[in-house]
Amino acid sequence: MERTPVLAICGSLRERSLHRALLTAVERRSPELLFVGAELIRDLPLLDPDLDTPDRLPSVVREFRLLAESARGGIIASPEYVHGPSGVTKNALDWLAGSTGLHGKPVLLMSASPGQTGGIRGLAALVPTLLALDSVLVDPITVSRAAARILPDGEVVEAGLELRLDIALEEFSHAMAVAGQVVRP
Ligand SMILES: Cc1cc2nc3c(=O)[nH]c(=O)nc-3n(C[C@H](O)[C@H](O)[C@H](O)COP(=O)(O)O)c2cc1C
Repeated sequence: MERTPVLAICGSLRERSLHRALLTAVERRSPELLFVGAELIRDLPLLDPDLDTPDRLPSVVREFRLLAESARGGIIASPEYVHGPSGVTKNALDWLAGSTGLHGKPVLLMSASPGQTGGIRGLAALVPTLLALDSVLVDPITVSRAAARILPDGEVVEAGLELRLDIALEEFSHAMAVAGQVVRP
């Protein structure tokens, strides 16, 4: 089976991250998807436009952009920090401003939080950035009181979340299929 490359970004660097758990859960349910890029996020330098020249561009950024360009869509699991977006995610997306990485491609946003709001403010803050990158957003997933719904190893322990993941992934796959048929200028 030929797998569909999808840019995966985890906005938390924490070892037992709930957002990494969400990505793992998605990966397990979607053997047709090939996650790319996730392992580079930690090594991306802080955005420095002075480095964005052919001879100074860090190789990790070059590789990240190439992987984004090869992807058919993006899946971003990103926490809310202090009512805002994860700087890790924002930094990765800022580096994509110099590429066509996510142009016209569906992006599924996910967040999780121990609190009642599921990290929705963090996701909301990423929306303008993703629209500026010309992404096509699909219905996001926010998971409140997340520790009762998903384990750090990616095991989903709530039927409701399983269903929400399945629906979101169906929408995401459909959006990728549609985006693949649109000829963009
Ligand atoms: C510095 C910091 C700020 C946080 N701010 C928020 C917040 O504004 N809203 C929220 O719902 N959770 C907040 N949290 C809790 C995170 O949602 C929680 O730690 C979550 O598990 C982080 O994602 P991770 O498990 O993938 O690392 C914050 C956590 C940290 C460390």
